[in-house]
Amino acid sequence: MARFLREQGMQTNEVQRCYGLLPAFLLAAAETGKALDLIELGPSAGFNLLWDRYAYRYRDERWGPETAPIELDGELRSALPVGLLAIRPVVRARLGIDLNPIDVTSAHGARLLRSFIWPGQVERQERLEQAIEVVRADPPRIVRGDYLEVLEPLLDKRSDVALTVVYQTASFSHLSSEQRQSIELILEKAGERGPLAFISGEHPPSDPAGYWQLRFRLWPGGEPRILARFDYHGRWLEWLG
Ligand SMILES: C[S@@+](CC[C@H](N)C(=O)[O-])C[C@H]1O[C@@H](n2cnc3c(N)ncnc32)[C@H](O)[C@@H]1O
Repeated sequence: MARFLREQGMQTNEVQRCYGLLPAFLLAAAETGKALDLIELGPSAGFNLLWDRYAYRYRDERWGPETAPIELDGELRSALPVGLLAIRPVVRARLGIDLNPIDVTSAHGARLLRSFIWPGQVERQERLEQAIEVVRADPPRIVRGDYLEVLEPLLDKRSDVALTVVYQTASFSHLSSEQRQSIELILEKAGERGPLAFISGEHPPSDPAGYWQLRFRLWPGGEPRILARFDYHGRWLEWLG
């Protein structure tokens, strides 16, 4: 146990964060009319690379496959744009980049993620088990590496047939401010060369302790937008538009 605590960094992967991310994916698809090539920065076990396989409930509207093995429900604090939940994007490709991917197809990987959920958080534990089963049925591709190095060459090679969507939650908090600037610059330069979307769930600079903001950017030409506020575990979402 002492060695485990010394050697093992904190590792979580919260599938409920997709409740906050979904409207941004739908918006990216709606505004471009394209299929999506997903690149998640810091996906851990990859639960949030499979967001289109889950069902969602926003008040009395439902999104997702009829037979989805997980339904994510939360508190929607203000209405989503009319028609947004009618969008059904096609995900053409999905790829994660993580310094330390967690392989939940192994008993060890699943146990590791279980160990980072607090005792008594029964709903999170149940969702984790469901998400493990979804990954085990068809694991997304996750490459081991530092996205500060890997992302730029990947974006250079991207196809314009689909819209590449780069996104992150709870990973940029591991970066220094210089490293964050460097990622933003990589995205900015890549955006000047062709269509690209970026979605980030992160603490707003003005309120580091409270909720997250859903930051969204679409290139070419789009200005940065804050679409929503949401809970850092995806329990509620407040759409700002
Ligand atoms: C707290 S987990 C978040 C997992 C998932 N995004 C979520 O929201 O549930 C943060 C992940 O970011 C990864 N990470 C941090 N810095 C990274 C970097 N520079 N390159 C690749 N992965 C990184 C960590 O290894 C870890 O798996």
